[in-house]
Amino acid sequence: MSRTITITRPDDWHLHVRDGAVLNDVLAHTAAQFGRAIIMPNLKPPVTTVDLAKAYEARIQKALKQLEISHFSPLMTLYLTDNTSADEVKKASENSIIGFKLYPAGATTNSDGGVTNIKKAYSALEAMQRFSVPLLIHGEVTEQAIDIFDREAVFIDRILDPIRKDFPELRIVFEHITTKQAAHYVRDANTNGKNTLAATITAHHLLMNRNSLFTGGIRPHHYCLPVLKREEHRIALVEMATSGNPRFFLGTDSAPHPKGEKESSCGCAGCYTAHNALGLYAEAFDRVGKLDRLEGFASHYGADYYNLPRHTETITLVNQPQAVPFEYPMGKSTLVPLRAGETIGWSIAS
Ligand code: DOR
Ligand code: ZN
Repeated sequence: MSRTITITRPDDWHLHVRDGAVLNDVLAHTAAQFGRAIIMPNLKPPVTTVDLAKAYEARIQKALKQLEISHFSPLMTLYLTDNTSADEVKKASENSIIGFKLYPAGATTNSDGGVTNIKKAYSALEAMQRFSVPLLIHGEVTEQAIDIFDREAVFIDRILDPIRKDFPELRIVFEHITTKQAAHYVRDANTNGKNTLAATITAHHLLMNRNSLFTGGIRPHHYCLPVLKREEHRIALVEMATSGNPRFFLGTDSAPHPKGEKESSCGCAGCYTAHNALGLYAEAFDRVGKLDRLEGFASHYGADYYNLPRHTETITLVNQPQAVPFEYPMGKSTLVPLRAGETIGWSIAS
């Protein structure tokens, strides 16, 4: 007998859907599982203003209409730059923008226009604190001299902790955390009883450690940023995600790239998990016997953090291996999903 689990419809609190023809291909995957998703602003050019975000949202809504999807809502973000003004922050707060994304310049895909020195963003951070607009953080320092596996931990000491001291009321989400240091920092932070610090965790960081980058040869489809870490870090992430601590919630960071741009001499960072993200999370929770904690992590804590209502409908997952195709369409190209040609242990019951 297959096991099933029924949970409140979940949300994805960190997602890349890109733009143009790609939208239709990737949104269908996400909307088959989730009710809402926070849409990342690292387009080319980046989504730096409310007007650009509104136009992007309209393109997403158009794609949803073409796909005849009515239950899914995109939640829009703005890309923080050295020049983001307090006025733009105020406008964002009045226009349902869910948060500003901090990409340290050069940290990852399309981050060149990001923040070069955090002090340059301080007037925007002050306004975000004042208007209660969350700061969503890609937490890695960019100095090439710092080992890539240490960049998240160094970011905590050099950037995150000082920001929290300088802006104690600023609401922060430390996104796609990958280390024990980040997990414990968020768990142990004193927020004076306020809801000011949370973290998202991806399915791929719960399921893989850095050995997966090199199993039998180099594995470009397992390369993402922040890069996979040692097993002890994966274990710490699983502990946090399955702990029932509401500071930790689901954010897939599903990041589609054309196959040729991953399988290249300088391949792009990003794992595509939207095709069955929930199945991957269910696998990670099931492996440690904590499936009963999946609903809080996937469907409750993120909504609570962002002061949005939890969904009222439910979805059911079933423990039946689902075959993953080698490729999916991606506009004029194709993308290679995580577990291509293999199976995922759980999937949405049809
Ligand atoms: O692996 C990643 N891919 N990490 C990011 O921070 C960005 C993302 C992307 O946009 O491809
Ligand atoms: Zn991302």
